[in-house]
Amino acid sequence: MKNLIFLLGCTILVSCSQKTVEPVAIVETVPPTAEEIAQGKDLYLKHCMKCHKPKVFAPGDFTIKQWTKVLPKMSRKAKIDAIKSNLIRAYVLSGAKK
Ligand code: HEC
Repeated sequence: MKNLIFLLGCTILVSCSQKTVEPVAIVETVPPTAEEIAQGKDLYLKHCMKCHKPKVFAPGDFTIKQWTKVLPKMSRKAKIDAIKSNLIRAYVLSGAKK
C-alpha cells in the first residue's frame, strides 16, 4: 500500500512538473554540464569498450566532425538509446581534437 501511495505521488509530481522541467536529452544549443560529461564518460567506458578493449579511444583522438560522423553508427552497434548516446557525445566532444 505504501508503494502505491509513493507511485501515485510520483505520478502526480511528474504530471504537474512536466511543463517546467527541462528535457533530459541534451539539446544541441545547450552546453553540457560537468555532470553530464562525467555520466557520458561512464557510459562510454561501459557500452563502447565492450568491443574496443583494450584500445580506448580518447576524446582527443578525433575531431568533432569525426566523432559526429562515427557516433550514430557506434550507438547502434552498442544498442544504446538517444539519451545515452547524447551523454557519450557530450563527453567525447568536450575533449575532441581541435
Ligand atoms: C558491437 C561492437 C562495437 C561497439 C559496441 C562499439 N564499436 Fe566502435 N567500432 C566497432 C568496429 C568493428 C569498428 C571499425 C569498423 C566500423 O567502422 O564499423 C569501430 C570503429 C569505431 C571508431 C572509428 C575508429 C577509427 O580508427 O576510425 C570509433 C571512434 C568508435 N568505433 C567509437 C565507438 C564508440 C564511441 C562506441 C560507443 C557508443 C562504440 N564505438 C561502440 C565496433 C564497436
